[in-house]
Amino acid sequence: MFSATCVAPVNMALVKYWGKRNEELILPINDSVSMTLDANEMCAKTTISASESFKQNRMWLNGDVVPFEENARLMRCLEGVHRLALANGAHKFPLSWKVHIASYNNFPTAAGLASSAAGYACLVYTLARLYDLPLNEELTTIARQGSGSACRSLYGGFVHWQRGSASDGSDSIAVQLAPAEHWPNMHMLILVVNDARKKTGSTKGMQLGVKTSSLIQHRAKELVPQRVKDLMAAIDARDFDTFAEITMKESNQLHAICLDTYPPCVYMNDVSHAIANFVHDYNETMGALQAAYTFDAGPNACLYVLAENVPRLLAAIQLAFPNDSSQSVEYLKGIPVPPVEVKNGLRDAATGHVNAKNMLKYIIHTKIGAGPQQLSEEKSLLIDGYPLTK
Ligand code: DP6
Repeated sequence: MFSATCVAPVNMALVKYWGKRNEELILPINDSVSMTLDANEMCAKTTISASESFKQNRMWLNGDVVPFEENARLMRCLEGVHRLALANGAHKFPLSWKVHIASYNNFPTAAGLASSAAGYACLVYTLARLYDLPLNEELTTIARQGSGSACRSLYGGFVHWQRGSASDGSDSIAVQLAPAEHWPNMHMLILVVNDARKKTGSTKGMQLGVKTSSLIQHRAKELVPQRVKDLMAAIDARDFDTFAEITMKESNQLHAICLDTYPPCVYMNDVSHAIANFVHDYNETMGALQAAYTFDAGPNACLYVLAENVPRLLAAIQLAFPNDSSQSVEYLKGIPVPPVEVKNGLRDAATGHVNAKNMLKYIIHTKIGAGPQQLSEEKSLLIDGYPLTK
């Protein structure tokens, strides 16, 4: 039996991927740019074993059996890696051997925090380790076919997914713009919003957008190319001001397109809008852009903030969004934040908009991170090819 175990991180888009020109190959209508987060706070972990004795391909996700062979996206990833292994020539066991896969997310899938990106990136990266394949552009085209945004989670730091133009998708690849060390003090506060309602998933939402929104093509053709260029320059120069402005405008444009979709897709809720307002007021009080929000296909807010500004921003959030468990470890997750004294100006700015209690479920403090990593054999989620639990 041969096995590999890896972790892969979540990534958060700065310039958003929204809309496909080919559903099956997952080819986007525009480029996107993201930041990969530290796998310590949020990651998918996957073990894959291959054995001559396995009768069929099997998968367990968070301990539950997942129908594997019926899942077109999973099969595309497996077949894609097989194709690369075949082309590569050297593999230590026959490609006909079946695989058993166990995968876990270390954060609640229900929170809607890019679990598919980390999950598919981890699946493809672990398969590549199992078949001794290098991490390269071709591998990103396979992760892309699991979930579009997954191709960006194969690299750490800042990543650019180029839409490409080939009809077979061979040039729709992810490339690293800068590693995490380029801007190591780039941190993030994720505000998980209390919200139980079920929403239209990204796949459906963007499908409907491409079909019905008249703004979406204008955005893809006329607006995104310049934004990508400007954002790349801002990242290169570590210019937080420009970075923050583009990020917030991008998020707002994504949600404007969602409203232009018919029937509209509403992802942000009242709490999300209260957070966006709070960030603008906070930046005004500070006299500079110190926090930048971005929202994906859900109500949770991801706030980009430099490490040195995290304690003050968090203190202001705690004032503006009071919570009964504000100091508990269940409420404040991730990298610890030293307490700060809240000055009057800040208190006035934050308390100008004190919201009702307990609007946030919890807060995660994380930062820019490296890409997927292989772990040692002791970290395996499978024993003799079967999950440790269930
Ligand atoms: C709003 O990658 O989840 O997070 O390719 O259909 O699996 P599929 O969609 P997915 O879409 C992510 C959309 C987004 C923006 C982004 O990550 O760029």
